[in-house]
Amino acid sequence: NRNDSVNHQTRAENSGGEGQAEENAVKVEAAQLPIPPLLEDKNPDPDKAEFHLTAQQSTKEFLKGKETETLGYNGDYLGPVIKARKGEEVSVKVKNKLDEATTVHWHGLEVNGKQDGGPHSGIQSGESWNPKFTIDQPAATLWYHPHLLHKTGEQVYMGLAGLFYIEDEISESLDIPKEYGVNDIPLVIQDKQLFENGTYEYDLTMHDIMMGLQGNVVLVNGAIQPYLEVPKGKVRLRLLNGSNAKTYDFQLSDGESFQQIASDGGFLEKPVEMSGLTMSAAERAEIIVDFSDYETGDIVELSHQDYDLMKFVVTDQESKEYTIPEKLTDIPEIDTDTAVRTREFVMSGMGRSVSINGKQMDMDRVDEEVKLGDTEIWEVSNDGSGMMGGMPHPFHVHGVQFRIIDRGGDPPPPNERGWKDTVNVYPGEMVRLIATFDHSGLFMYHCHILEHEDSGMMGQYEVDE
Ligand code: C2O
Ligand code: CU
Ligand code: CU
Repeated sequence: NRNDSVNHQTRAENSGGEGQAEENAVKVEAAQLPIPPLLEDKNPDPDKAEFHLTAQQSTKEFLKGKETETLGYNGDYLGPVIKARKGEEVSVKVKNKLDEATTVHWHGLEVNGKQDGGPHSGIQSGESWNPKFTIDQPAATLWYHPHLLHKTGEQVYMGLAGLFYIEDEISESLDIPKEYGVNDIPLVIQDKQLFENGTYEYDLTMHDIMMGLQGNVVLVNGAIQPYLEVPKGKVRLRLLNGSNAKTYDFQLSDGESFQQIASDGGFLEKPVEMSGLTMSAAERAEIIVDFSDYETGDIVELSHQDYDLMKFVVTDQESKEYTIPEKLTDIPEIDTDTAVRTREFVMSGMGRSVSINGKQMDMDRVDEEVKLGDTEIWEVSNDGSGMMGGMPHPFHVHGVQFRIIDRGGDPPPPNERGWKDTVNVYPGEMVRLIATFDHSGLFMYHCHILEHEDSGMMGQYEVDE
């Protein structure tokens, strides 16, 4: 069902391309921001957790009265937030009620290859999977999504994705907002190509195959331009760019600055004052927005360029005073001398011929072998091949959190100095990463533009004694 010309026509009517997304965005009555439920822990033992997750088919109305087919975990679209504590033994019982195979990958979680949920961990239709792991990393906002070979883009797009929080002594003791859904708010940002009749489907055009699928509307937690009532005080937003391909430049509509306190793998050493935040596909950030100086009824929008993603409506509710500490956590200095080897990864090509080091993903080929416990430097570059000087590729590594040594020879910006698992690499740029490989098994590294990943811009590394 890849009829490019037909699809182009349908889309041309309601989307003039990315730049005109706003004018063409479907008109809707603002809905309240949906807050995904926290997934119930079925194990009464405080040191253990058991979660139940079911991948299922459903329907949902993105536009009132217009139903479309969706996928979701335990619900109609997206999934519940899983929350676990550092040191906790976690068991997840995953059930696949889809009519095709899927996997559940824990993006950012440091577990062994067998529990990682990559393309080798297929769960057939009607079957179950029960990974067990111990949380062995600091507090962070991670996420989970399918990772079946050639199918990741479609299954994520149809709705399979959810957040995975890790908490620890530090996250619990810091004087930061932490009331779930009240002043600690999950925001899953995804764009969709919605047709005028309110439906959507995963049907790639030639443009999508090249650039990754770009939508005409942006959903926040599955809602179009929703609003959230916020107290007069500090609010913590946990942002996930859960889009298939799009990169966002987030800012507040009144130009006010905010503080970024965490990146992909946890807290930054200190809060970083920002007036804009760029996030490529799969990246996460936690930011603190201070609404204390606003008047009741004031509206502030979270926007991407000229497009308003959602509104914050300031209420008269007073909030506790939080003093965001100047130091959030300790992040060890990167000692590049501890690295025992350096590897190169070159991302190149376009459309269906995207590759890493000139190779496309092969499930039967291990591309790199890493010794358990080793620290390595990975030099990741984007050769800028493709139309009009190429495009950025967000490079993601499974099984580890890494640090960025430098970007094009320069130290990374302050908000990229913490733990990361995904890094956007611009055309012509080389980014050096350093990581210690403490978990064994087979893992993936790939571009997180899901259409590139599905086309083969992915490789495998194995960690072994
Ligand atoms: Cu977010 Cu290989 O995954
Ligand atoms: Cu991942
Ligand atoms: Cu890419």
